Amino acid sequence: MWYFVCPEVVFGEDALSRLAELPGKSAFIVTDKNMVKLGLVDRVKEQLAQAEIVTDHVFDEVEPDPSLETVRKGSAMMRRSEPDWVVAVGGGSVMDAAKAMRVEYVRPDMPAEEINPFSLGLDLGSRCKLVCVSTTSGTGAEATWAIVLTDTQTETKLGLGSRDVLADIAIVDPALAASMPPQVTADTGMDVLTHGVEGFTSTFKNDISDGLCIRAIQLVFQYLPRAVANGDDMEAREKMHNAACIAGLGFGNSMAALAHSLGHALGTVFHIPHGRAVGLFLPYAIEFIGEGREELWAEIAYAIKQEVPDGSKAVPVLNRALRGLAGSIKQPLSIAEAGVPADQFDRAMSKLIDNAVADSQLVSTLRVPGEAETEKLFRYAYEGKSIDF
Ligand SMILES: [Fe+2]
Repeated sequence: MWYFVCPEVVFGEDALSRLAELPGKSAFIVTDKNMVKLGLVDRVKEQLAQAEIVTDHVFDEVEPDPSLETVRKGSAMMRRSEPDWVVAVGGGSVMDAAKAMRVEYVRPDMPAEEINPFSLGLDLGSRCKLVCVSTTSGTGAEATWAIVLTDTQTETKLGLGSRDVLADIAIVDPALAASMPPQVTADTGMDVLTHGVEGFTSTFKNDISDGLCIRAIQLVFQYLPRAVANGDDMEAREKMHNAACIAGLGFGNSMAALAHSLGHALGTVFHIPHGRAVGLFLPYAIEFIGEGREELWAEIAYAIKQEVPDGSKAVPVLNRALRGLAGSIKQPLSIAEAGVPADQFDRAMSKLIDNAVADSQLVSTLRVPGEAETEKLFRYAYEGKSIDF
């Protein structure tokens, strides 16, 4: 038995107006300062006002890679304002923080760091529902039940989540993603790509999520370079915004894998944006997993119209396409290219290995590296060498 869970997904032009139809009295908005500055929070408030929902409380302090302290602060404010809706307006960090805050608000007996896949029967929605308004085209957090938080004491990422924390409504309105600068568009787009590839090849892959993952990969190849080159290309924006949600629905129900473990480890220590970090490792993870997924690599290559010649392996064909796409949007192909100095990299090695080995995404990786292999993976990825072990 397996589950496919998803929120109500409202997508396309004017999807934001779904907010004007919500029942209820008050909403607590979770966001960051940039969203306020860009005027997106005001647009959300305007829609909620049409539904006669009060929005007196806005928590705009969510930082990239949100910490447990931020979640505590937000949930304490929620308890004081007693909303019947939480409305998250932002990217993955904001949406994940909002998911965790709602848990702590409705269930004060459950601190965020204890949320795990067996935390079920939380019954959050009877007291407070969650809407995720996504403003980046990347994490797909609007559609997943995962929560990634950072423990700032130990410099580790906490992979948390439970089916019960899923948003009730996901709003995927391309106009809200239109303000992403090219670099953020590229970084977050690499996250979508990695979700699609890993969701399609993880050990938890399944018939329901497969089609979503493949479609997301196709959309990224077709539209990400356009969205990066011209942020006003609204067709590309819309397709990438949909792709992010589709990949979220896919990998959210099948899990990510090795590239995410390595990317989380590197990103946490060197503060590299999530999508850039996981995208960097994707070709190396594919090479390392290799043979065991040969048929699936070939299926992905076929889906993006790359021919695998008879008698050849699919991995080099697929990786050439992945690296070609990444290069075309100026994404780093090695850790050195990502700007990590060699001496700092060497000093951080044991931390990187510890983080990667402990990462929750390894659970769903077909070939799990040991500590020595993990170190080699990092070193090869630093230099941009093909995996040969
Ligand atoms: Fe991701």
